[in-house]
Amino acid sequence: MAANWKMNGDFRTIDRLLNDLKNDLLDEEMDLGQIIVFPPHVYLQTVAQSIVGTNILLGGQDADQRESGAVTGSVSAKMLRDVGCDYVLLGHSERRILFNEDDYGIFQKLKQTLSVGLKAIVCIGENLEQRDSGQALKVISSQLEALISRDISIQSGKLLIAYEPVWAIGSNKSATIGQIGKALLEIKKILKEVDPDFSESTKILYGGSVTEKNIAEILAIDGVDGALIGGASMDSRSFSKICRIAKTI
Ligand code: PGA
Repeated sequence: MAANWKMNGDFRTIDRLLNDLKNDLLDEEMDLGQIIVFPPHVYLQTVAQSIVGTNILLGGQDADQRESGAVTGSVSAKMLRDVGCDYVLLGHSERRILFNEDDYGIFQKLKQTLSVGLKAIVCIGENLEQRDSGQALKVISSQLEALISRDISIQSGKLLIAYEPVWAIGSNKSATIGQIGKALLEIKKILKEVDPDFSESTKILYGGSVTEKNIAEILAIDGVDGALIGGASMDSRSFSKICRIAKTI
């Protein structure tokens, strides 16, 4: 369960959220990495300290494609590793839209992220116009192929794909089981074409209006290994409920 806090929270609310989460999940035997939190960059170190001794892992919401240097305002993958991250979220639709990120730039970020030993969760997904015009699967496959068909060797388990239809994000309108199932089949097909073992080791998450109400049916879909959760992850009660349900599936 990956919690994408986006540009939300402050010291006080993040501290409370983490404490509530740790208390709520105290009795649950969560596996290491079953929960990953993605705070805004400035809070990474505080969160890193707060999760010491828990099974929660840490991720950055984005990383620059360059190793270091004159890139004012950016954060490198190596810096994220330095403050205790295991994961980096890449290619979220909000970054694609608001920061004009394209498939090639996201591929460069993926390369940089993997080169410092971090795992990447890369988001792909169609917008409403693309879905309505019957292009959803085409968009998903071209975004995915842009990541894996280039000159890159990806170690087993280092890449995770998050299928997030743009129209389902923050809209209270999750994709249907059928829509998610079809997208997953397409993703698996492309991964298998690269290599069946690669497909097997690449976890796939669904994201877009995931709540405690729909998490069980989403995780029951063949091929869904987890969820990327925005809104509901900022509410400790909802998020711990989601984690508890996920634990039983
Ligand atoms: P949401 O966001 O759960 O609020 O829809 C998901 C995301 O943007 O990763």
